[in-house]
Amino acid sequence: MSAWGALFLLWAAAEATKDCPVPCTCQTLETMGLWVDCRSRGLTALPALPGRTRHLLLANNSLRSVPPGTFDHLPQLQTLDATQNPWHCDCSLTYLRLWLEDRAPEELQLVRCASPARASHRPLAQLTGFELGNCGWQLPTSWAADPGFWGDVALVVVAVLGLALLAGLLCTVGKPLD
Ligand SMILES: *[C@@H]1O[C@H](CO)[C@@H](O)[C@H](O)[C@H]1NC(C)=O
Repeated sequence: MSAWGALFLLWAAAEATKDCPVPCTCQTLETMGLWVDCRSRGLTALPALPGRTRHLLLANNSLRSVPPGTFDHLPQLQTLDATQNPWHCDCSLTYLRLWLEDRAPEELQLVRCASPARASHRPLAQLTGFELGNCGWQLPTSWAADPGFWGDVALVVVAVLGLALLAGLLCTVGKPLD
């Protein structure tokens, strides 16, 4: 191996360990991203993840939820193995679900819920937004139930009637008298 090759390996090893979360092991990829392996570490919460994380392995831990926004500072993150964790699939897991749906839909089939009862043993992919719950926020009410909507309709009706009246008036006034 050339001296440069050896230097690169040293640099890569130093880079990889620099901000690797304590319970995990990391490897620098040739593409500069980081391979972060946190499998089977008995984790109950996610460790602080380095911004260069590209592949994240979380399988076989005791994770129950992922705080919303957890992966927002990881623009390079491409793959996420979240299997074999006792996920508590309620509204707080909506973030993970949407993230996987966008970035790794095949993984969504493999992530299984442990609780609550209605979700247990089911893949996260099968749960509808309704089953996950809404964490207290609500979708905007539909237009028909919105009183402001009917107020607008009334305004339009009045305006149209007014215009018709005006047009009728103009017609009668403009008609030549014979
Ligand atoms: C899961 O992790 C535990 C330690 O937390 C380990 O003892 C066990 O062998 C792991 N199982 C698999 C399938 O990797």
